Formats: sequence, structure tokens, C-alpha cells
Amino acid sequence: MEIRKVGVIGCGLMGGGIAQTCAQSGYTTVVREVNQELLDKGLARIEAAWQKMESKGKLTAQQAVETREHLRGTINLEDLADCDIIIEAVIENMEEKLRLYPALDRLLKPEALLLSNTSSLSVTQMGAVTKRSDKVAGLHFFNPAPVMQLVEIVRTISTSDETIETVQQFARSLGKTPVLAKDTAGFIVNFLLIPYLISAVRMLENGVASRDDIDTAMKLGCGYPMGPFTLLDYVGLDTTLWAAEAIYDEYKDPLYAPPPLLRRMVQSGYYGKKSGKGFYDYQ
Ligand code: 3HC
Repeated sequence: MEIRKVGVIGCGLMGGGIAQTCAQSGYTTVVREVNQELLDKGLARIEAAWQKMESKGKLTAQQAVETREHLRGTINLEDLADCDIIIEAVIENMEEKLRLYPALDRLLKPEALLLSNTSSLSVTQMGAVTKRSDKVAGLHFFNPAPVMQLVEIVRTISTSDETIETVQQFARSLGKTPVLAKDTAGFIVNFLLIPYLISAVRMLENGVASRDDIDTAMKLGCGYPMGPFTLLDYVGLDTTLWAAEAIYDEYKDPLYAPPPLLRRMVQSGYYGKKSGKGFYDYQ
């Protein structure tokens, strides 16, 4: 199947990064947000990234013009009707996804693929509310999506071989390295990353060490590019909490039980870098 037009649903941190990546790779890309304010905010973030790339010489003036021409924003779902692939990157809320998938299923042409960027929710459940579950899979990007080289391709019981093959080729065409995982909560990366991140929060709660010392320890002791609190703020505390809850729901393993401090911070609107405050202050 030839992919020409990509639809991305959600222009937040992940959706915006994914739309940017697709446009940079030469795909005609339409990104949809629920209202103009959120769309403008997301498109401004992409524009800032492109300007930075231009100033660093990573995009020539000609490439910058062409790349911008590849991307269009919309608040109408109908503008995605002729897309060959949809990448859904809306909020990690199953009710929201279960409302969206049947609507997309009715709207899209029969051969279009429906991919979710979910980090831990059941892709099987999303496919089950459509009449094309063989064409539904996960395509999980990592933040910052234009930079991180990995994507996880998530296969449900119903996903066809042909779909997986097309998604693998598509991922490679974006310059990504795909890995394949079964549809189980957390897939590969979050199943391993979430216990690490929430253990750091527990360590802070228990007064074992300070935020700065824990971050310094993991950066310099393990060679990680960011310490756990910098990464929590970067990924989003809300996103981390949802991922922890989803994996905990599936396995009931205390390793994934969200620590009270993480929950309280999310309840207080401390989502990390995107809200101006998390474990660090960005205001
Ligand atoms: N678009 C294009 N380029 C971008 C960009 C964007 N949105 N964001 C960053 N970059 C580029 C920068 O311009 C820079 O380019 P250069 O090397 O040519 O100068 C390069 O990426 C590195 O960025 P910086 O110089 O600003 O900063 P760092 O060298 O510190 O790298 C980082 C930043 C790549 C974010 C690095 O710190 C890192 O790898 N951190 C770990 C990130 C990580 O672990 N992500 C996965 C989280 S888990 C997840 O997302 C799953 C979810 O489900 C929870």
C-alpha cells in the first residue's frame, strides 16, 4: 500500500512532534486539534522547531519552504477523510479513544490504516470498536518525536501481517528504527521505564537523596542524557501517571503503583515543562 497523506490527531507535545516528523519526511500531513487555540499553540511549537533547525543549517531555505508546504492544521475531522494513515495522539483516556475510533472508521476510506500513539492503553480495545481491526495497530513515538530514533509497533491479535509490514516500512521512511511488541500495557519501553521513574519519586518521598543529587547520580553514574526528574518533567507527570496506572491496572504489580507525591503533583496541575512547573520550575 502506498502512503501519500498522513493524518495526525492531536497537536500536543506528541501529536505535534509526530506531525512535524511526517512533514519533514515529505508526507502531505494534516494535523487536527479540537479547537483553534490548541491548534495554533501546537503549530507555533512546530514552527519554532523548524526555525531552530534552519538557524542551525539542518534545513536549507528551500527545504524549509517545502516542509512547511507539507503541513496543514485543521479543527475538522472531515479534513482527514482521504488520508492513507491516521496516527492518533489524543489524551490517554480510553473513553475519549472509544468515541473517536468508530467516527474515524466511518470517515476513512476502507484501506486506510488507523494507528495509535498510545503509550500503555489497549490497542486491541480501540480496534474492536471499528470494522477494520486488521488495520489497527500501535505506533508509539518517544518524546521528542522528531529526534528520538525508536518507534514501537504494537500488534494486536487482529492486526494483519500486511498492516505490520506497511507500518514498518512507513516507520523506516520517517528515519525511525521500529521494534515490534505485543499489545500488553507499557509495551517494551514504558514497562521498563515507568518503574525507574516512579522509584525515583519514591526515593525523593522517602528522603533518601535530593532531587538534584538523584538527577546528577543517574546522569553521571549511568550516562543517561537526563536524570529521572528532568525526564519526568520532559515527558509530563500526567502522562507518566496515566502510564503507571494503566500498567498497574493490567498486572496489579506494586512496582507500577503510582506514588502519592506524583498523584498530588498532577492534581495540583504540576505537569512538568509543558505547564511551567513540575519537579523543576520553568516559569
Ligand atoms: N525538532 C527538531 N529537533 C529537535 C527538537 C525538535 N522538536 N527537539 C530537540 N531537537 C534537536 C536539537 O535542536 C538538537 O540538535 P543538534 O544536536 O543539531 O544541536 C538535538 O535535538 C539535541 O537537543 P538539545 O541540544 O536541545 O539538547 P540535548 O543534547 O540535551 O538533547 C534530548 C535533548 C534529545 C531530549 C536528550 O536530552 C535526550 O535524549 N533525553 C532523553 C529523552 C527520552 O528519554 N525520551 C523518551 C521518553 S519516554 C517517552 O517519550 C514515552 C512516553 O510514552 C512516556
